[in-house]
Amino acid sequence: MGNFMSKYINMGNTGVNLDYYLLMEKKLDPQLFKHSTEVANCAAGLARVYGEDQDRAFQAGLLHDYGKRLNPSLLREEVQRLGIKLDKITLAEPQLLHAPVGAALVREELGVEDGQILRAIMYHTTGSPCLGLLEKIIYLADVVEEGRDYPGVEKLRELSYKDLHMALLTAVDNSIRRVMEKGRLLHPLSVFFRNELLLQVNEGKRR
Ligand SMILES: [Fe+2]
Ligand SMILES: [Fe+2]
Repeated sequence: MGNFMSKYINMGNTGVNLDYYLLMEKKLDPQLFKHSTEVANCAAGLARVYGEDQDRAFQAGLLHDYGKRLNPSLLREEVQRLGIKLDKITLAEPQLLHAPVGAALVREELGVEDGQILRAIMYHTTGSPCLGLLEKIIYLADVVEEGRDYPGVEKLRELSYKDLHMALLTAVDNSIRRVMEKGRLLHPLSVFFRNELLLQVNEGKRR
């Protein structure tokens, strides 16, 4: 058993996610598996701080990039096969497409029926103005997990454990900036997500 799972078990949990852990180890390439386990660990840590269920956070983190195993043409094939209705921006951008396809596959292939876990997977790239706590935790854990290395990540990681909404706002701002710089399609949900977070942060300051 790798370090990542034992880290989690050491946190006082008993390995209820072991089946998914072993399955992901088999199905994901080593780099994606490492990222997924780090997101799972980070999500469990954030869940402990913000009062969310740590097991579900760990599981959602572990499964969040399940769709990333597939290349863009296979992702599009799965959209057809599963009959998923998606907007044209998501369809044109594999970076976005792996999230909803991943959620559908986690449900179909792994039998996960927990709506919040499925939504956390579905919205982990775009965000959404209506995210619940678990979904927010996965969005953030994806970009601050221990293996991430970009300017400002340490500061953002620290902030994540202190101020969830401020950290999310920074994370979505970074993401929008990167999409613009690369000249890629910007999903409107990310803009709605950003505005909602900014309203919440400003509301908190006024109190
Ligand atoms: Fe992803
Ligand atoms: Fe990810």
